[in-house]
Amino acid sequence: MQYILSPSLLAADTGRLAEEVEKVEKAGAQYLHLDVMDGHFVPNFSFGPPAIASLRKRSSLVFDVHLMVEEPRRYLEDFAKAGADIITVHAEAVTHLDRTLYAIREMGLKAGVALNPATPLCVLDWILPLADMVLLMTVNPGFGGQAYIPYCDEKIRALRSLIQARGLQTDIEVDGGITLQNVQNVLDAGANVIVSGSGVFRGDAGANAAAFLDIMRKQEARS
Ligand code: DX5
Ligand code: ZN
Repeated sequence: MQYILSPSLLAADTGRLAEEVEKVEKAGAQYLHLDVMDGHFVPNFSFGPPAIASLRKRSSLVFDVHLMVEEPRRYLEDFAKAGADIITVHAEAVTHLDRTLYAIREMGLKAGVALNPATPLCVLDWILPLADMVLLMTVNPGFGGQAYIPYCDEKIRALRSLIQARGLQTDIEVDGGITLQNVQNVLDAGANVIVSGSGVFRGDAGANAAAFLDIMRKQEARS
């Protein structure tokens, strides 16, 4: 299994975004996690396609766009044009999940499905093969810097078993409250794409990203 670090830009210094991105890219992070919030699905705003398009010119990281947006189908093309490589939509925010995942894949992008902590895994039953990645929220979405919800360990384990039982290769991304102190737990539970905002960008982003990647490489060597 490939282990991937996806630093969340939400926690970076907005006055120096390009510089911060460069630091994590140099440290070896593979993805950049871009949190888009509409002030409706989540009680907060962040950034949209123009900011992503401008960063696209400065970085060759895989752009991992997490849409915390009601009915994101309306904006998929805008995010594709801005430079998204992976688009993840929330199962709770989409009426036609099957159609939305197809639409993302038809644009030549990878499709992800995100679930809030309280959303059961059974919503994935029929559409799991249509998703390249499942993002399990490990905090309630909307804000960075919250504490990891402990019952998510078991949810990650259950999802990894389900994916293996169905013979799929789906990535499991975890997002929210992941730090250098608890990342080993989520790796052991079966996550392989690690989002971290404050865990990376609070302090020296390059050094923090390198420390995450060191733990993840060791996990990869053991697996
Ligand atoms: C929260 C976002 C996260 C957030 C994570 O709604 O989806 O990606 O940036 O931040 P930390 O790692 O600080 O919890
Ligand atoms: Zn996110």
